[in-house]
Amino acid sequence: RVLSGAPRDLAGRHVVVSAGGTREAIDPVRFIGNRSSGLQGYALARTAVARGARVTVVAANVALPDPAGAAVVRVESAEHMRAAVLDAARDADAVVMAAAVADFRPVAASDVKIKKTGGEPEPIRLAKNPDILAELCDRRRDGLKPSPEVIAGFAAETHDVLANGRAKLERKGCDLLVVNQVGDGLAFGTPDNAAVILVAGGDPVEVPRGPKESLADALWTLVSARLSHPA
Ligand code: CTP
Ligand code: CA
Repeated sequence: RVLSGAPRDLAGRHVVVSAGGTREAIDPVRFIGNRSSGLQGYALARTAVARGARVTVVAANVALPDPAGAAVVRVESAEHMRAAVLDAARDADAVVMAAAVADFRPVAASDVKIKKTGGEPEPIRLAKNPDILAELCDRRRDGLKPSPEVIAGFAAETHDVLANGRAKLERKGCDLLVVNQVGDGLAFGTPDNAAVILVAGGDPVEVPRGPKESLADALWTLVSARLSHPA
């Protein structure tokens, strides 16, 4: 696709994009996962490259060709992703958490493959994963430096989309939250997306159904507007 007409408004900036979905090990051959393909995160990476940014993608289990011009760090679990995102975020101007991060992981992964036995299976006990987006926002709110100037998240909601999204934006303390309605051929594993981008302290921006690049560009325009410009 032709991106040569893109504005170069991210030139000289470092942006970090997380993409895909984490996998939380149950045993050496099984995991708890989710339906995220990484398409939206990779569209964000490509469009940011086109707008002149240095781009680091933290990719969890994405089966797509690497976005040209971006550095790709591969991770598996939420804990791996946390370490990679916090590391890349140290000199980042903006972080966009487009990945679907598992909220829970098995308390302990079995070292050996769990075997089918005569009786009923043991329940899998779960522990809460770190909330990477909230942690980035908390660190910034606490004045820890360096912190990214702009922090954005994604939220897939199945019901009360706007109310849930607004509450989530405030709870996390991020600047922008892209809220997708899940289902109806949208969001997971599809080339198209439709969303509302919630803006802290501003009016929401509606992005009509279209390619994931369009949503990505709409988000970068809002990110770019919130970056301070060197004097
Ligand atoms: N996120 C994260 N770390 C987690 C869970 C989510 O960084 N452990 C990020 C996602 O990448 C996304 C945003 O938080 O950008 C919102 O994720 P979502 O699952 O919608 O929100 P949760 O706070 O996990 O709430 P819930 O799943 O209960 O709706
Ligand atoms: Ca979640």
